[in-house]
Amino acid sequence: MRILTGIQPSGKLHIGNYFGAMKPAIELQEQGDAYIFIANYHAMTTVQDPASLRTMTTDVALDFLACGLDPEKTALYRQSDMPEVHELAWLLSTICPMGLLERCHSYKDKTAKGIAAMHGLFAYPVLMAADILAVQSNVVPVGKDQKQHVEVTRDLAIRFNNAFGEVFTVPEPFIRENVAVVPGIDGQKMSKSYDNTIEIFMEGKPLKKRVMKVVTDSKELEDPKDPETCNVFALCKLLSTEEEQAALAERYRAGGMGYGHAKTELLEKINEHFAPMREKRRVLVENMDYVEGVLKKGAEKASVLARETLQKARQAVGLE
Ligand code: TYM
Repeated sequence: MRILTGIQPSGKLHIGNYFGAMKPAIELQEQGDAYIFIANYHAMTTVQDPASLRTMTTDVALDFLACGLDPEKTALYRQSDMPEVHELAWLLSTICPMGLLERCHSYKDKTAKGIAAMHGLFAYPVLMAADILAVQSNVVPVGKDQKQHVEVTRDLAIRFNNAFGEVFTVPEPFIRENVAVVPGIDGQKMSKSYDNTIEIFMEGKPLKKRVMKVVTDSKELEDPKDPETCNVFALCKLLSTEEEQAALAERYRAGGMGYGHAKTELLEKINEHFAPMREKRRVLVENMDYVEGVLKKGAEKASVLARETLQKARQAVGLE
């Protein structure tokens, strides 16, 4: 089994990214050949400050390594260290109907939010397909918001294979239903662009402030509460065992527990879960040569596959 996922360096990573994609991808490294890359070409559709793009790119590498990515098992690389994806994206563009891209929610959502309607933003799913197909991955761990993009990838792979012969592996999205959409502090999907995130490496007062801001209904302390509709509960669930979830749900329903208590519990759980990762990150920051080495080695490994795929695709379409 070959596994691949990517994450954009367009802001500090949050617990939606962590539970939706990072954790599943890191866990899958035990079961197959794993590739995780930092989608800096994609981030250019929204980040146009060179210094920020550079810093945020290395930040994602630090975050993944701190969160348990094992570079002996997973190839971690920068998308821009594998430019073969662009040639592949062009080959895919020539068989990609406009309608397929016009239907993509992500493009419509971003332009509705005021992001300029550039060609790069529109063609974003084709580059994403090239990322996935270049390494011939079978499994793509993502959050629900990326499902449609993986479907576009499948569609393009099938069209290409039908037109030119079997070149691409048709991938499957891997979406864990319980973390498919992690809510942000306002209850919408947690997202960098909604400014409703809880960052993985936030600590101390800023973290506490963020957690205390999670939106709830206005039930009084003594009232029974519904855990299933509560954002605090939804976030606690991600960090709890089944028994802990059941016990907390019981306290919600019994009444006598205020949202302040639930938020304090959430804060403790976040601190407990991420404390070892914060420690590891502090050590890694002092070893940037090591981090650079990991990224280089990862790009070399992934590029072997990308070159092989590209060679096959070029031959299939008649460029060679
Ligand atoms: P990006 O950078 O927006 O998000 C990275 C991953 O985090 C998941 N995610 C969430 N999951 C659950 N709940 C949330 N609130 C939440 N917010 C984000 C996303 O679904 C994603 O899996 N287009 C991709 C990057 C990309 C890519 C690829 C991914 C480029 N090429 C190839 C997979 C394969 C993106 O913008 O993700």
